[in-house]
Amino acid sequence: MGNHLPEFRAAARRIDRRQFVTRASAAAVLAFAANMPTAGAASARRLNPRDISKNPFTLGVASGDPLPDTALLWTRLAPEPYTANSGLPTERVEVEWEVAQDERFTLIVARGTATAHPEFHHSVRVEVPGLSADRFYHYRFRVGTWISPAGRTRTAPAAGARVTQLKFATLSCQAYYHGYFTAYKHLAAEDLDVVVHLGDYLYEYAVTAVGGARNYTDRKLPAHYNSETITLEDYRLRYGLYKSDPDLMAAHAAHPFV
Ligand SMILES: [Fe+2]
Repeated sequence: MGNHLPEFRAAARRIDRRQFVTRASAAAVLAFAANMPTAGAASARRLNPRDISKNPFTLGVASGDPLPDTALLWTRLAPEPYTANSGLPTERVEVEWEVAQDERFTLIVARGTATAHPEFHHSVRVEVPGLSADRFYHYRFRVGTWISPAGRTRTAPAAGARVTQLKFATLSCQAYYHGYFTAYKHLAAEDLDVVVHLGDYLYEYAVTAVGGARNYTDRKLPAHYNSETITLEDYRLRYGLYKSDPDLMAAHAAHPFV
């Protein structure tokens, strides 16, 4: 990696990294804002966390798009990830989050609450402000008595900082039905600053009841996975299937993804 770093930095300069990051982030914010439930359409009912009787953190946690002063955190509440609506009613859920300097969460640097909207399939997206540049942080979510697995993320170096090394991995094209994600198991254990996923993150084609080449013998996937994804609900369910892979979850929890 060290020998290739000058080439990477030269390439990064050609793209104009800051412009790229700004545009990508603006596009992400716009996409999210455009999907915000309007006041009239948003579900007004709020679910009491005590009514969630199964672990809602079945899809793990993730972070991404690091900037010098912010971290972008993600999770999704899904007590039953393979069923429509993921086993939750069409109600809002308040989710607490916290960010710490240490993995035991004794040095908390930021905390707050976010709303998981049924219109977004109870996904949660938090942009944590006021962080320090170029350092690791630990984060987790809580709903009632349910606490998510902890994730680790890293902020980008300050603009103009003299960076002597950057450790990153690139990924592309993962098909659930082609087999187990063992590469992610190893990726989760790597010492990295960031992971760059170049896609495809999922494929629209049918996944058989035994998970294709995974050939499950201990369970069967629901019949709706054995068809091409067409509707929004199809895609949400398919993302849920991919996100439920334990090795993929471990990689997301270990590193920020771009
Ligand atoms: Fe692909």
